[in-house]
Amino acid sequence: MAESEALGSGPIAPDWRPPSLDTGVATPARMYAYYLGGKDHFRADREAAEKVLQSMPIAREIARANRAFLTRAVRHLAQEGITQFLDIGIGLPAPGGTAETAQAVWPEARVVGVDNDPIVLAHARARPGVEAGEAGPGAGSEPERGPELVVAGDVRRPEEIVKHPEIRAVLDFERPVAVLVVAVLHFVEDADDPYDAVRVLMDAVAPGSVLVVSHATGDFASGPMLRAAKAYEKTTARAVLRSKGEIGAFFDGLDVLEPGVVLLPYWRPDGELPEEADRIWMYCGAGRKR
Ligand SMILES: C[S@@+](CC[C@H](N)C(=O)[O-])C[C@H]1O[C@@H](n2cnc3c(N)ncnc32)[C@H](O)[C@@H]1O
Repeated sequence: MAESEALGSGPIAPDWRPPSLDTGVATPARMYAYYLGGKDHFRADREAAEKVLQSMPIAREIARANRAFLTRAVRHLAQEGITQFLDIGIGLPAPGGTAETAQAVWPEARVVGVDNDPIVLAHARARPGVEAGEAGPGAGSEPERGPELVVAGDVRRPEEIVKHPEIRAVLDFERPVAVLVVAVLHFVEDADDPYDAVRVLMDAVAPGSVLVVSHATGDFASGPMLRAAKAYEKTTARAVLRSKGEIGAFFDGLDVLEPGVVLLPYWRPDGELPEEADRIWMYCGAGRKR
């Protein structure tokens, strides 16, 4: 059964539990929460994350820089007039998220989250007013109301995302949509064709839509990065490092926004660059569909 079916959607029973929440195996979403100082992680996540930190003590700064990039990118696109956001691999709630950032610019901004980790959906279900698999009530009426909808889905099955009736009920694909795939594509192996996934997503949305990507690279410190990537082998998703050229290729056919594909801190910084900017080994960028 596909995971999106297994997780289901619809009204929430009071005793609902995510059916496939396995706390014994680390997941990228919970490890990321650990790096960011969040609370939603279990022993397996902490152990795996500590292994990564042993190989690469800067991993925590990289996670923070990634979140800060996401925030800057969403703010920039909202300020440019985008009011619809499809956040694939939305992750667990943490400061600087897509909805709070976009809705600070456009209170009526609509955000849909997609994730393949059951704990992310469980969180969305626990949030009053915004329930997994259901559009939240009162769209446009309350500030900081969070994502309209969070659904189970997998970027490796992009057709299911772009055809998802509940997503299409919230986001109007005839108008520009920011498609965020931030710190997600390095969990998609070549065999699952991440380039085709991005193409399917961007083919489905209107001209003026923008793809936002960040992605881990082994271009600089291949040793520590490879050891860190190896620590993900025992988690639910293997990590794949790609070169700057390979990451830039996600934007093929799109107009890459300034400043191009750069290490995270260099993308439209809103303050001084951190001292360790050149050791934040993840590339990022944004590209607009003509
Ligand atoms: C490192 S977190 C990034 C969270 C958020 N995008 C950010 O940048 O702050 C990666 C997220 O992608 C999700 N993810 C990993 N592989 C995925 C896939 N194949 N499809 C959808 N989500 C995926 C994980 O569950 C996790 O929530």
